[in-house]
Amino acid sequence: MKFTVNKGGCLTGRIRVPGDKSISHRAIMFGSIAEGTSQITGFLEGEDSLNTLRAFRAMGVEIDGPVDGKVVIKGAGMHGLKKPAQALDLGNSGTSMRLLAGLLSGQNFDVELSGDSSLAKRPMKRVTQPLAAMGAAVDTAAEGRPPLYIHGGSQLSGIDFVMPMASAQVKSCCLLAGLYAEGKTCVTEPAPTRDHTERMLQAFAWPVHREGATVCITGPAKLRACDIDVPADISSAAFFIVGASIAEGSDIVLEHVGVNPTRTGIIDILRLMGANITLQNPREVGGEPVADIRVKSADLKGARIPEDLVPLAIDEFPAIFVAAACAEGETVITGAEELRVKESDRIQSMADGLQALGVAARATPDGMVIQGRAGADSIGGGVVQSHDDHRIAMAFAMAGLCARGAIEIEECANVNTSFPGFVELAASAGLDISSQLDR
Ligand code: S3P
Repeated sequence: MKFTVNKGGCLTGRIRVPGDKSISHRAIMFGSIAEGTSQITGFLEGEDSLNTLRAFRAMGVEIDGPVDGKVVIKGAGMHGLKKPAQALDLGNSGTSMRLLAGLLSGQNFDVELSGDSSLAKRPMKRVTQPLAAMGAAVDTAAEGRPPLYIHGGSQLSGIDFVMPMASAQVKSCCLLAGLYAEGKTCVTEPAPTRDHTERMLQAFAWPVHREGATVCITGPAKLRACDIDVPADISSAAFFIVGASIAEGSDIVLEHVGVNPTRTGIIDILRLMGANITLQNPREVGGEPVADIRVKSADLKGARIPEDLVPLAIDEFPAIFVAAACAEGETVITGAEELRVKESDRIQSMADGLQALGVAARATPDGMVIQGRAGADSIGGGVVQSHDDHRIAMAFAMAGLCARGAIEIEECANVNTSFPGFVELAASAGLDISSQLDR
């Protein structure tokens, strides 16, 4: 699938983007191993979270839905999962693979986890090493890549793990294995990362202890079913926050967005660049902060992005690079080497695409330097590759708002992994976008 975006336009109105992907994955996982029935509303019906749902169905969990974002899970209990008939295919979803690696290391059956060609290239040693230290037996393909083959029946024991990189997936993998381990499992992170696992475990009635940069749980655990209302995903809202900021005349409200402080780096970074963003009607829903986000267009200026904001905006950099191209002056991003091991190498994919559109963007090993230009014609028209990466495709779609000509974006089918209905919703808000099947 290919997107064509005609230049110009602005974003207005009130919209709700789909449910949070991270929270949707965790709701299925915890609901499946809890005792009792959990009801999820606002579930993301995107391919990534659906792959997690299908995986638990394949392990015998009774799951109804999703229907209009509603899913009902009859929890199988901590030891009620069954050996699936075949390998669990997790598609494009790194979160499914890394979190399931932890959860399934504590089962008494063997299971294989596989994925698509992008997932097959992603590093898994970051989870298999701490799991091995807990006593798990996980084989990988060459260089620690997927597929993963998890041998069941291992008795896990708690560890004290100091994480070498700031990764919520690695932290969550260890905590999920820790649910099945004897004793205390502690993870210390080098910088704060999203804490949905910690919050949701408490909602499922299992205590989590946090002290400074360390989080600990004690196993073996028992979870009690609960209902989860999934807020809209700030990582999906991010495309509209950037789009409205760069397109003159914009004034948009993004409704019911999760604004957990471990996810709001995008707001802090854009405000540093001069954006006009206000949070309205702040409230708490099921242990997660939520607000409506109002964004008006603004004259953005280039900035040096503080490294401590990087993990708090890790999925938003494709959109932030586009904002930087439309901001007056130089933007410098450092400390973001994790972007090289996402669904694509997001530093290279974005630098190549921005250069193809005439933007002075230079990739560095851990970030990018962009010389931006403010105004309605900051970016040239042309053809860019998304490298099958959903967030690259959506970021370049928003670039059309500040472009001198039409932008064509190739390989956009994976937008469905996180944002089903993106084209229709973006068009309804004012982006001149259409999708076509590739010839
Ligand atoms: C996620 C954590 C992040 C993020 C991913 C979702 C999660 O990955 O990029 O899209 O749900 O825990 P890392 O923790 O590896 O940075």
